[in-house]
Amino acid sequence: MDVYGLIGNPVGHSLSPPMHEAAYEELGLDARYVTFEPAPDAGAEAVTAAKSLGVAGLNVTVPFKQDVLEAVDPDDLAAEVGAVNTVDLRTDPPSGYNTDVAGVQRAFDHHGVDREGASAVVVGAGGAGRAAAFALAESSVTLHIANRTAEKATSLAEAVRSSIGDDLDTPTTVTAGGLDSLAETVPTADVLVNATTVGMESDETPIPADLLHGNLAVLDAVYAPLETRLLRDAAAAGATTVDGAWMLLFQGVEAFERWTGEEAPVAVMNEALREHLE
Ligand code: ATR
Repeated sequence: MDVYGLIGNPVGHSLSPPMHEAAYEELGLDARYVTFEPAPDAGAEAVTAAKSLGVAGLNVTVPFKQDVLEAVDPDDLAAEVGAVNTVDLRTDPPSGYNTDVAGVQRAFDHHGVDREGASAVVVGAGGAGRAAAFALAESSVTLHIANRTAEKATSLAEAVRSSIGDDLDTPTTVTAGGLDSLAETVPTADVLVNATTVGMESDETPIPADLLHGNLAVLDAVYAPLETRLLRDAAAAGATTVDGAWMLLFQGVEAFERWTGEEAPVAVMNEALREHLE
């Protein structure tokens, strides 16, 4: 039997076990997915310990996504993003990946949102904001990052700029600002991602409704509730909406495919996820 798991603190509320186990069952794989809650300073140690116990793979969530970098060999993307959310423990040293970036891209793809040549805005510059910014930089012509703490947006913009400098065909202009910069950038944007925690378990939104419009595709990384105030406002403005469960689903799909080499049963994983969200 293969054991996969998630390290985070806290992990009690995680939706990853039912999502992954539904996939194992569907494909007849002899595998289990369990959660571990290391002490807040023990993320890297937990990766090493899990390897010695024969665990096959780990997902990594808050607050360990940066800490585990010292225990793994990250691929180029994970190294550039500066965060690892998926570890393959069968290699020596363990291999680190960031499937949050693909989670954003595949969530948009699934909804037919083409980002080639788009103007994109990311609100938030924490872990989710970093993944969204790198995901959109690949295809957008302009990328604006807005964050309550403007300096964090500026340093994320610098990281994105230096990583895309060498290996992109499309030159992307990356700018940054505080939340007040949304007033100038959202009205002309094609794609918008909320990667702040605003709207989680509350009826608040980080983006004033009057900035939203019908040419936008809006992804909200918040998935509790599924229909956030931002997505309600966006739908009312005629925008395409993508809820946070899609991002959660596709980072898991991508991790599953890396670990097992099998094509993930996306519909089954989505159903298990949404059943547990409700
Ligand atoms: P995650 O890993 O989910 O991205 P995080 O790294 O803690 O979580 O980042 C939280 C993000 O939400 C940050 O961009 C944060 O802004 P700051 O960098 O200024 O802290 C943003 N955020 C949290 N509460 C907010 C609020 N009340 N208004 C605006 N932004 C907020």
